[in-house]
Amino acid sequence: MEPILEGAVEVHSHLGPGDERSLADDVLDGLTRPFKELPAKHLYDARGSELFDAICEQPEYYPTRTERLILEACAEDVVARTGAVELVELGSGAATKTRVLLTAMAAAGTLDRYVPVDVSESTVLACAETLVGAYPGLRVHGLVGDFERHLGHLPRPTGPRLIAFLGGTVGNFPPGSRRRFLRGLAKVLGGDGHLLLGTDLVKDPAVIEAAYNDAAGITAQFNRNVLQVVNRELHADFDVGAFEHVAFFDRRRQWIEMRLRATELQHVRVADLGLGLDFSAREEIRTEISAKFTRKRLEGDLAAAGLELVELFTDPGDLFAVSLSRVRPR
Ligand code: SAH
Ligand code: AVI
Repeated sequence: MEPILEGAVEVHSHLGPGDERSLADDVLDGLTRPFKELPAKHLYDARGSELFDAICEQPEYYPTRTERLILEACAEDVVARTGAVELVELGSGAATKTRVLLTAMAAAGTLDRYVPVDVSESTVLACAETLVGAYPGLRVHGLVGDFERHLGHLPRPTGPRLIAFLGGTVGNFPPGSRRRFLRGLAKVLGGDGHLLLGTDLVKDPAVIEAAYNDAAGITAQFNRNVLQVVNRELHADFDVGAFEHVAFFDRRRQWIEMRLRATELQHVRVADLGLGLDFSAREEIRTEISAKFTRKRLEGDLAAAGLELVELFTDPGDLFAVSLSRVRPR
């Protein structure tokens, strides 16, 4: 496939015409079930990515600023322990916190290449251009693709590799897929690679619920935007205003569920699929889960994936954790 950009910045897209099917398949599969559901990755078109960045600025949304503080405190240590020459970042988004890591690698004199991986083409292009300008000599190899399906397209490592998966995005997988995904990552890490994983921690449910119900209503817009995505991409006629944002902490499963609730009975047509969907009043679509972790849950997931914890970094309030792990020697 032809690169979108070449030079010190290279960006390759692995989302082709076949990938529109991914949304079509997910709509067909997820919205015809008795309990309707859409995978969270469809929240991130260009508008969804902008809205996510705005969520990160909301006073209630503690994960971003807390993870940044943790990274600022641990980056030098992480770089010294890993000797990483390249940073691969999954779900890189705007890659703002990433700068903390790149700066530490540059200061240690090891920084060679940054490899952002994201389904959102606009964010990969924007962060690649910005970062190559900010770090002299840095090579950027961007990958527009699905981190569940396209990690086989990562470039060959140029030396010890650090894979960063920040923001708590690993919590957006259901538990079984999360372990399967981490097992796949262990293969990509190789013997001398490390994984730097951001996970949101279990805490007072009121604090967690506030983060997903910000007073400015940005998370509600982010959630509803997925219906605009389906309308645009599959010529559907969702009345976006007739769905309300719902987010609550499931105490038993220890995760946030984000849902869209139909405010009234409605019929929706998805023209490209020749599909009609009926919603009863108050019927919901689950649009995201966001798992919160204890140390036990984290270690259990890492162990099941063949990874061992090297170090766990947290903030003084124990809101969020950044863990460094590597493949467990046999
Ligand atoms: N890492 C950033 C952004 C987190 S938002 C931070 O910590 O702030 C989650 C990011 O993951 C978004 O940019 C979204 O586009 C991307 N994403 C979600 N599902 C994905 C998938 N299956 N494959 C690749 N990227 C995905
Ligand atoms: C990207 N992900 C970790 C965010 C989260 O908190 O689960 C997405 C998000 N959803 C609502 N607000 C933020």
